[in-house]
Amino acid sequence: MTRALPHDVQVAPSILSADYARLGDQVRTVMEAGARVIHCDVMDGHFVPPITIGPLIVGAIADEVHGAGGLLDVHLMIERPEHQVREFARAGADNITFHYEATPHVHYTVNTIREAGCQAGVAINPGTPAETLSEIAGHVDLALCMSVNPGWGGQRFIPASPGKLERVRGVVGADVVVEVDGGIDEETSPTVVGAGATLLVAGSAVFGSPDPAAAYRRIVDAL
Ligand code: DX5
Ligand code: ZN
Repeated sequence: MTRALPHDVQVAPSILSADYARLGDQVRTVMEAGARVIHCDVMDGHFVPPITIGPLIVGAIADEVHGAGGLLDVHLMIERPEHQVREFARAGADNITFHYEATPHVHYTVNTIREAGCQAGVAINPGTPAETLSEIAGHVDLALCMSVNPGWGGQRFIPASPGKLERVRGVVGADVVVEVDGGIDEETSPTVVGAGATLLVAGSAVFGSPDPAAAYRRIVDAL
């Protein structure tokens, strides 16, 4: 069963900055604090230099997330994502987002994600124009606007991102969830919501804190 993406404003902790030796505890902590979307960053060492996690780790936290009424938001930073969709769907992904820049077959990949029973998102890098999403907008559930270059947590929010978010929202319309990822904290979060984002990924601002639950709440309270 796929859980529907929220259309209200929510903060999605990214486990990229979590302590993987106690990942289940870290997920439980932020969910007890109110998080309902857990963001998983998958990197392949090709589309972006680092290698991070695969379906095994997504599957390892799936019961914890779903049992608490949450959903797994999988962000694929991998080349040719269409070849990996089924594995992540089987692992428990509810939403799968891939990069427009990572495949020549964007429309096909969206269909593959939907056929696998998941909601589909398309992400664009900071250098990719918002208008790139125009043809696919009517076929996706989510548009992810990167506010840093993908690959690493803890980078500085790109100041032009709110303007880009406004253009993304204009291109995709009101029914598509607009997600923003990179450099989100208590200071940047009100600005991106003002620009039209509703799903805010926060990695280092949550799990880089000694108290991730309190850090999550501070971002939510800043909105
Ligand atoms: C970066 C990832 C992000 C990352 C964000 O490529 O897609 O999800 O976790 O990290 P922060 O919130 O630290 O910028
Ligand atoms: Zn991400």
